[in-house]
Formats: sequence, structure tokens, C-alpha cells
Amino acid sequence: MQQARIQFHDLHPSADDLRSDVLTGLSSSPRAIPPKYFYDQKGSQLFDEITNTEEYYPTRTEMQILESYAQEIAECIGTGSLLVEPGGGSCAKVRLLLEGLRPCAYVPMDISKDHLWIAAEQTAAEFPWLEVHAACTDFTQTMALPDNLPSGTRVAFFPGSSIGNFHPQDAVAFLTTVAAMVGEGGYLLIGVDVKKDSKILQRAYNDAAGVTAKFNLNLLARINRELAANFELSKWQHHAFYNAEVGRIEMHLRSEIEQVIQIDDHEFYFDQNETIHTENSYKYEIGEFQEIAGRAGFNPEQVWMDSNNLFSVHLFSTDGK
Ligand code: AVJ
Repeated sequence: MQQARIQFHDLHPSADDLRSDVLTGLSSSPRAIPPKYFYDQKGSQLFDEITNTEEYYPTRTEMQILESYAQEIAECIGTGSLLVEPGGGSCAKVRLLLEGLRPCAYVPMDISKDHLWIAAEQTAAEFPWLEVHAACTDFTQTMALPDNLPSGTRVAFFPGSSIGNFHPQDAVAFLTTVAAMVGEGGYLLIGVDVKKDSKILQRAYNDAAGVTAKFNLNLLARINRELAANFELSKWQHHAFYNAEVGRIEMHLRSEIEQVIQIDDHEFYFDQNETIHTENSYKYEIGEFQEIAGRAGFNPEQVWMDSNNLFSVHLFSTDGK
């Protein structure tokens, strides 16, 4: 019965290439592995655990903001829009907006078929009036949408401060593709973590229970399993700190000893204390982020924050509004 309101569109994303990205990343200087590889099954589970730690404020704070201002957000955007969520692998956040927004359709986009299907089914089950068009695609590669979507003002919803993983120039490039996707008279509703006391930031990425450390180290376990590498997890340390000069949290894995890592017939020599850079998480003042989005063609409409000014939710429009 519910199936009729869910359409699944496989846009055939090209498969991630863990092997070539890891070999390239370990050969470059400084060494780095893209953060998208954190999210295997175990990694996704650990990320969920991170969001429940006392120290990691972004997820719960963003949800409080969305919940408190859902009505106001809906008043700005209006009803009947086409709501597109790049990376919409879970319905936890969008569900806070759906009653107010009453979109003509919801389009979650995710590279993982399983995540996408679960999110689409859950959302459709909870909102019996909602039409869901799930698009299996890699939104970092293309913003192309499925054909035959209902028409309405297009709204891109990009929560979670995922934009923080991009280098600022890459954020502008990515947002430019989002602006093209929503077209004239469209909107972007985006969650962005803000700069703050570095102690609060550092704690959020160094929780006392060590969940973030496990999440970071799980990348090595994944590489061992999928690429038959020989990382000994006990010889690597989670290292996360706020780099104030560039306004980002950096996560690294630090070699505790001098050691050699083998993958296929490649050998990688690590000095003691040498690191592999695994993630950047940029933090932006309100004006700084408006400048970034402005370079992508977005005009600031509104910003909502929590009472402690820990996190921001921005609404931008494109011209034609
Ligand atoms: C999902 C990229 C927003 O940068 O805060 C959490 C990932 N890494 N703890 C972030 C993350 C370590 C998270 N993002």
C-alpha cells in the first residue's frame, strides 16, 4: 500500500574506489585518506554513537534548532516545494520539517542503496501523505535528479555540518552545483557548525568514552579487512585538535612507532609520530559562511541558532525570488 508512494531511482553511481584512494593517499605528503571511507557498517554505527556522547553537541543542537523553528522555516519557504536531501540516509532530521513544509515530494539522495531504501520507507510510513522519490546517486559527483519529479520550488536540505568536510574552495564548488540544481527561485537550508571556544570543539572530537577514537581507528580495521593490509590498531593513536589558523578540527591517526605497512606489493614506511590525516571539519562564523555560499550564487535569507550559539542553520535563496 505504501509502496505506491515510494519511487526508487537508481542513477548508477560509480563505485567508490577504496584501494586506489588509499594507495594514493598513503603515497602523498602529507598522507591523507578521504573521510567518506569512515562509513562502513561499523563506522556508521560508531558515528551514531558519537552523536549520543555528551561532548558531541552538533547533532542534538541542530535538531533542537530545527524543532524550535520548524514553523518559521516553513513560513519562509512555503508549502508545496520539492525537497531534496543530498545524503539523506536517515529521516531523523527531515521529519522535523515535513509537517510544516508539506512538500510536493521528498527526494533523498544517497550512494548507499540500503540506507536510502530504509530512509525512504521509514519516512513514507511516518508521513502517509508524502510522495518519496529516492535517488541512488553520489551527490559529490553529480546533482542530477531523476526524471519525472513533480514540479515545485526546489529546496536543498543539507544538515549535519557535512559541508565542514569540504575545503572552503571545494565547498564553493559543491554549493555551486546545489545552486544549479535548485535553479532560479530555489532555496538551500543548511546546517553549519560555528567557531567557538576551542575547548568545546576539542572535547567534541575527543570524547571521554573514546567513541571518536574508535571511529577514527575503524578506518584502519576496514582497510585491513577490505585491502588485506597489516595495520596493528594498537600501534596507532587517535589525534584530534582545533587548528585555529584555518578554522577546522583535524583528525589524524598517529603512528606510535616506526613501522612498515603493506598493501599488495606496496610498502609504506612510517616514522614514529608520523600521521595519516583522516578528516577536516571546518567551522564558520555566520558571515564567513554567507560569504562562501554567496560565491556559489546564494543570497542569505535567514539564520537560526540555539540559545548558546553552538550551531547555525542557514536559509539561502537563489535569484528569481
Ligand atoms: C558528519 C562530518 C559532520 O565533522 O563533526 C564526528 C563527522 N567526525 N566526529 C563532523 C565526525 C568525528 C562529522 N560530520
